[in-house]
Amino acid sequence: MGRREIGLVSSTLLLPAALFLAVTGLVSDALDLNEFVLHKYVGYTAAVLALVHVGAHWPSLVGFWTGRGGRRSRAATATTAAAGDRDSAADMAPAPGTEPASEAEGSSPRGIPRRAVLAAAGVGATGFAAGWLVRPADVGRLPGEDVGALYHRASTPGIADALGALVSWGSQPARTKEYPGAARFELPPVTVPPELSVASAIERRRSLRDYAGRPLTTGELSWLLGAASGITGPGGLRAAPSAGAQYPIETYVAVTKVDGLEPGIYHYAPADHALERVRGGTFGGDLVIAGLGQEFLGQAPVVVVLSAIFQRLRWRYRERAYRYALIEVGHIGQNVYLAAEAAGFGACAVGAFLDDAVNGLLEIDGVEEAALMLLPVGPR
Ligand SMILES: Cc1cc2nc3c(=O)[nH]c(=O)nc-3n(C[C@H](O)[C@H](O)[C@H](O)COP(=O)(O)O)c2cc1C
Repeated sequence: MGRREIGLVSSTLLLPAALFLAVTGLVSDALDLNEFVLHKYVGYTAAVLALVHVGAHWPSLVGFWTGRGGRRSRAATATTAAAGDRDSAADMAPAPGTEPASEAEGSSPRGIPRRAVLAAAGVGATGFAAGWLVRPADVGRLPGEDVGALYHRASTPGIADALGALVSWGSQPARTKEYPGAARFELPPVTVPPELSVASAIERRRSLRDYAGRPLTTGELSWLLGAASGITGPGGLRAAPSAGAQYPIETYVAVTKVDGLEPGIYHYAPADHALERVRGGTFGGDLVIAGLGQEFLGQAPVVVVLSAIFQRLRWRYRERAYRYALIEVGHIGQNVYLAAEAAGFGACAVGAFLDDAVNGLLEIDGVEEAALMLLPVGPR
């Protein structure tokens, strides 16, 4: 294979490699993907191809930069067209006594330039690929389909839709909720209870609906809330993972029996590891009613309530936002379960509740922010 053929092959392979790198780079960046399949290997391959490409075109390159790439050098290249660079040969004016490059080698027998044929094929292939990659716009409900299945289908993007993540869907709200003027209670620093291996905590964990009568201490509440949503890393990174570190989940606690803390509904402020009082009073009875009569909601000394502020995810992930909110509540809920187990308590996830009633207790609207899970926690 001569220099010209090597140049052609490397150019041809470089194009898809560069396209793949650009697209996967953009998608990775937009979706906060830390890895993209084959990205690294295509990158190495592209680097090698680029070196080969430069090597194959070295004489043209040197000629260009040394100022000897003008008419004289071009003419020389054209007269030895078989050995020269076809791309540059096609662009240049034919030297006297030589055939124009397009006629000599760049055209089909009927005179249609080969580049035009390739361009038309490329456009056709792109259209075909776009039609295949983009999800159909119509996501109306199928016969017999429930709203959950409809949502799942509607939030299943085509590959090309992933690029939609480059666009913002509405503005990004604040990542933390504030209650200016609310009574505040600084929780004691988190102290880890006597060691219990993760393996044992997982094995022992059961949903607990019967609680010993004793109240919780503020230290125990500090451990539970810190394990649920506390800040554990630089830049505000928290105990549970969050898509794009957007932290859509807000943590509240309905306190009935905690030593040194008035009963009431509190909002947990991770940045200060503090509680902000949303409203004072004992709400055990309201929680039982809101929880469709599940009595243990009124017997637990504390009920952790997790809500989501959807726009914190939606501005970035659009339809995927709701999925992510539910996943994140699951992460935090499991943290509460395991932290409770480690401290000798038990927790119980409660998903069956009247949304409006729970949202009303938290004084949230149920649209921008909505309660997703209740977790009564108490001693065994
Ligand atoms: C999403 C979800 C919702 C749940 N909702 C309730 C509920 O409303 N009431 C209840 O008593 N338990 C509820 N549970 C707890 C399950 O009943 C419990 O996890 C299951 O019976 C398995 O028992 P285990 O957790 O002790 O292993 C819920 C659990 C999950 C994950």
